[in-house]
Amino acid sequence: MDIELLMKKAKEVRKYAYAPYSNFTVGAALLTKEKKIFTGCNVENTAYSSTICAERVCLVKAVSEGYRDFTAIAIYADTDFISPCGECRQVLAEFNGNIKVIIGSPGNYQEKNLNDLLPFSFNFFSGKSEE
Ligand code: THU
Repeated sequence: MDIELLMKKAKEVRKYAYAPYSNFTVGAALLTKEKKIFTGCNVENTAYSSTICAERVCLVKAVSEGYRDFTAIAIYADTDFISPCGECRQVLAEFNGNIKVIIGSPGNYQEKNLNDLLPFSFNFFSGKSEE
């Protein structure tokens, strides 16, 4: 049920996306261990590289409000299944390499594990790459 709700929230927040350059709007919803949900949409910029993806928007909202333990993230866009970009995978892995990544739409989604999407990633604290 948590997952279905998370996907619904990701779908809802997509309406706030600011994407005048790509016209590709994305919504994301992040679930914390405390069962709090943070949502985010993509926010583009005329200097293209300053664009922020929906996944990173909800993550920075959560961290800046004191939440760091994440269990799942749902991502919604106008494609069958959106796969998070490499930068977002890296930023999510900073907090939990095992987070569930839910892609698709309400009632029709797939569940991935971030470690499978970002294998052998660098981990500063252990001083070695994680398998
Ligand atoms: N985008 C996201 O917000 N999340 C993704 O997982 C992939 C891409 C955004 C960035 C940009 O605003 C637009 O989608 C096209 O790349």
